[in-house]
Amino acid sequence: MDKKNDVVLCGTFIHATNTESAVILNDKCIGVKDGKIEFIDDISLVEKNLKQHNMEGTKIIKMTERQFMIPGFIDTHIHAPQYPNAGKGLDKGLLEWLETYTFPVESKFKDLKYAASAYRKAVNRVLCNGTTTACYYATIDTDATLLLCDIINDLGQRALVGKVNMNINSPDYYVEASVEESINETRRYIEAVKSRKYTTIQPIITPRFAIACCKTLMKKLGDLAEEHNLPIQTHLCETKDEVSFVNKLFPDYDSYADVYDKTGLLTEKTVLAHCVHLTQPEIDLIKNRKCGVSHCPNSNLSLRSGLLDARNLLQQDIKMGLGTDVSGGYHPSILDAMRVTLHVSNTQSLLKQNGYTPLNMKEAFSLATLGGAKVLSMEDVLGNFEVGKYFDALLIDPCSEHSVLDIFDDDIANDCFEKFMFTGDDRNISRIFIGGKEVHNPVDVFSVQSTC
Ligand code: GUN
Ligand code: FE
Repeated sequence: MDKKNDVVLCGTFIHATNTESAVILNDKCIGVKDGKIEFIDDISLVEKNLKQHNMEGTKIIKMTERQFMIPGFIDTHIHAPQYPNAGKGLDKGLLEWLETYTFPVESKFKDLKYAASAYRKAVNRVLCNGTTTACYYATIDTDATLLLCDIINDLGQRALVGKVNMNINSPDYYVEASVEESINETRRYIEAVKSRKYTTIQPIITPRFAIACCKTLMKKLGDLAEEHNLPIQTHLCETKDEVSFVNKLFPDYDSYADVYDKTGLLTEKTVLAHCVHLTQPEIDLIKNRKCGVSHCPNSNLSLRSGLLDARNLLQQDIKMGLGTDVSGGYHPSILDAMRVTLHVSNTQSLLKQNGYTPLNMKEAFSLATLGGAKVLSMEDVLGNFEVGKYFDALLIDPCSEHSVLDIFDDDIANDCFEKFMFTGDDRNISRIFIGGKEVHNPVDVFSVQSTC
């Protein structure tokens, strides 16, 4: 095994556990061997641990007083080819927005030169914002999707990447010709990803949504996911108009979620984006199938899709993570997703009034890290600092050179954490580790950005 990425980090670590949304671990050391956490102990015992774990001579990084480390953010729902549109075209509701802005930009990615440049900018920006794992939609184009995988691999991010399937109710210039073509291309995609032997990337089956895929296609995609034991991602109950359209297209089904269930798309490895307008039977169904929900609050507000009652789903033990849903959401950062999660939850509490407990900042942090790992069925290896998990982590520096965050009070760790959550940004994310490997520093970012 290559030891050059082995490292020991000493200082303050903050993470979510299954029982607490944010635990502050002061004066600790974490040893990282072969990309995974080998030990966590008190800082005073670092030498003993190095000896015990056969890691003498390993590079040691000591955090300064106000620095701390958190697990890398997990974006459970993002459309890489929509990044060129991030921050524009938010004047229409979902279905009109797809036709007017989204399908046109996605169709551009069949041009591999355009795709290479736009995808590199997108992945780089997502990574700079501290997303160490992302669950991406690409486009219907297989070769461009493989190019996206190569770029993610090159930049060192962990990702699930889906070639999008859509064969009906889509524009002539952006649609797959038949079920056969859609399935054959998906098979070609899966085989190509497997043959490239990436260490941090896996394919995910990606029927866009029930409006754009016929029943036969959805069934065959469900079979394909089962055959290859792959995760699945799709959109569910994002807007009321979308739900009505699905009910019209599939009159013989109990509900929108039932369409996915009857076509074999609801598994314990399914990521369902939005889920704003679920009925109680649909909540029961996705809970029984152990699906995860990607909460995309920026998108839900920007496209005026609705206000998800995240507290209600969490109380019913639905797995939940956060998604930026670029470019329905205009911001590529999970910090933004956490903040908007809290605004939406506060709004719920104002609307419901009696006894409603909105989510707090620590709960949002838990959703952004451990929650995301659960939704992506990766909680055994990701989401917090536990021995045996990959070391995917961010070094946060509240006092970095261009920081816009000022610290005043005495409870240093807690104040720095809260202030970063609400007022920090990518300028405070000083170092990024994925599988123990440092993947990005400002110099690299500058060289990529300068190609604009
Ligand atoms: N539903 C189907 N496609 C999309 C998409 O690209 N973005 C969002 N937000 N919802 C969708
Ligand atoms: Fe989406």
